[in-house]
Parts: sequence; C-alpha cells; structure tokens
Amino acid sequence: MTPAAFMRDIWHRKPLLVRQAISDIVPPVSREALFELADRDDVESRLVTHFRNRWKLAHGPFAADNLPSTKARQWTLLVQGVNLHNSAAAALMGQFRFIPDARLDDVMVSYATDGGGVGPHFDSYDVFLLQVSGRRRWRISSQDRLELVPDLPLKILAEFEAEQEFVLEPGDMLYLPPQYAHDGVAEGECMTCSIGFRAPAYRELAGHFLAWLSETVEDNEALSGRYADPGQAATSRPAQLPADLARTVAQRLQALRWSNDMVSEFIGTHLSEPKPGVEFAEVPQIAAGKYAKLARTHGIVLAPASIALYDRSHFFLNGEAYEVPGELAGWLRRLADRRHLTAAEVGQCAELPELMETFHHWTLEGWLQLAPAAV
Ligand code: SIN
Ligand code: CO
Repeated sequence: MTPAAFMRDIWHRKPLLVRQAISDIVPPVSREALFELADRDDVESRLVTHFRNRWKLAHGPFAADNLPSTKARQWTLLVQGVNLHNSAAAALMGQFRFIPDARLDDVMVSYATDGGGVGPHFDSYDVFLLQVSGRRRWRISSQDRLELVPDLPLKILAEFEAEQEFVLEPGDMLYLPPQYAHDGVAEGECMTCSIGFRAPAYRELAGHFLAWLSETVEDNEALSGRYADPGQAATSRPAQLPADLARTVAQRLQALRWSNDMVSEFIGTHLSEPKPGVEFAEVPQIAAGKYAKLARTHGIVLAPASIALYDRSHFFLNGEAYEVPGELAGWLRRLADRRHLTAAEVGQCAELPELMETFHHWTLEGWLQLAPAAV
C-alpha cells in the first residue's frame, strides 16, 4: 500500500494489519541497550508488571538489577523517545515521515517477557505497532465502551471484547487509530516498537498561545502600558473591585488581535520545542573557517533530538522562530525535510556566508552535526 492510499483510506479511520511491513527487520536496539537506556535519567521509562494477577506500574530510571529477571513471566519495560538516542530508531521513525513531523511524536520500544503487556486499553493517539523481535498476540476491538477499571495505576478497560486477533511476527505491523481498544500479549520474549503521534489539545494550545502572544508580540497596542485610575474617587468600600478596573481590562483583552500568520508562527515555535529532558551535547569550539571546510567535505545532519519545521515565512528549530530571506529559506527547508545536506549542497551554501554562520552556530549549540564521517 502506498503512503497516499494509506492516508486516504486508513489513517484515522480504521485499523490495518500489514504483514511483513519491514521484512528482515533488525531491532533498532538490543535488549541490553534498551535496559541501558532505561537506566538513564534523561530517558522516560516505565515498568509494568502483572504478577499474581495484580497490575503494577513503576517509573524509571531502572538500574539493571532493579528489573525483574528476564526469566520471570508477565512484565514489560517501556522506553519512550528511543529515536532521540539511537540512530537506528531515528531512521525507523524516518520511514513514517509521509506524515508531517508536526504530528510525529516518538518511537517507544517495549520489551516483554512471556505473557507480558500493558493490559486492554485505548490510546488517545494514532499508533503503528511494529513487531521487531519475537511474537505478540494482539486482540483489538472497535467497542465504544471505554470505561476504565477504577483505582489502578494503569488505564485498563473495564470491559474488553476482542473482535479480531492476530499474532505478529518480526516485521509485521498493526496500525490503530485513536481510541481503538487493544491488548497485546507477548508470546515468549518479544520487542515491539510503537511509532506514536501527538495531537495537541486545543485547551493546552490556547494557554500556550496566550502566553506566547503576551511575551512575543512587543508592538501589541492592546497590551502596552499599565492600568491607571486618575478618576478614582475616595471609597467607603475598599474591598469592592472597582468596576472601572474590570471594564478597562476587558476592553484591552477584547482589543487583542492576531492573524493566521501569527498563529502559524506560534504553532511552529511551540511544536518545535525540544521534548522534555532533551539536552543538546555541547560541542568543542571550532573556528568558522575549519567548520566550513569540514561541512563542505562531509555534509551536515540535524541532531536526532532536533525538531525542525517551517511555514511560509518562518523556519523553526528547537523552539526558535527565524524569519529567513528567500535564498536561505530554500536550503533551510531542504535541511528540515531531509534532515541533512550533502557535502555538495553545503558547498553551494558556502556562497551564502550568513547561512554558513548559522550552521556553525547551530552546530556549536549541538542542534546540527557534521555528518558522521567528519567526526
Ligand atoms: C506495548 O508495546 O506493550 C504497548 C503498546 C501499546 O499497546 O500501545
Ligand atoms: Co496502546
């Protein structure tokens, strides 16, 4: 199935099982490498156990000797954002870039022992569940009863009636739209990658937008100055809110205006904010001339944790918005879409000193990297 057909017929509408979506799949991380990630405090990890019929949830980091034995049944370790730390997982996520980056979230990798899983539940987001090693039995249901069992540390559906059931082998993939009930149980040791999406809640966006508007738009008439009350008379009811205060503030708030372009600038800034916990590694100083030479020889790549987006008039990188002139914009868009520029392309960019300076600066920030061969 082509990405175009998938987006037209399946996306957001119905589940899809794709046998051998990626044949000869190699897990992006080994079990040991996943356990090491789960031991880092800049990585979000969870441990779900279902021992003696009781669901338990713990949050990482987990030292390897704090995890149950791999011989014990019915536990699973879930590690979020593996694509930020592992280039194979980043490359895997890259295969899903027929969906805009603004919607792609991360690659979560789960490891489970026999019988392990997180119980029947639903997610609020679309997900591709790619089996990368071992086997997992998925049962899914279009049910709209989504009540949860109360007082559990995990979201477990109170009722779950499976309508379809599949055993996924390495390379098989199941796509599920939001709110689709599912339960995946490991058959023997297994590893699953969830390619997840994000869909900002309007309420949350509105809060961030208003904060952005008040901080960013300096020439906002409505927000300039401070309340003053030269007409205030002496009062015998000091606790009463002055009617004029509320009226004046209401007028100012009602005068707040914004254009679609401003909203787009906000969304680009907001959605390109690095994920929580991300820290870009500092890079040793490198002189501009030497940098330009290395970049022209080897090419440049965005750091795995960098988020680059653009709209008609801005380029966004890691929460910063840049208004870029036309000839630079083309290169920055190409960098954002492909996440790298080849040596030959950087050679062409070298004619634009401002662009090379920007690449140099972003490289020192750790946002951009010289292509691996250069390091
Ligand atoms: C898992 O990988 O065990 C859980 C993925 C999911 O059900 O969303
Ligand atoms: Co799920």
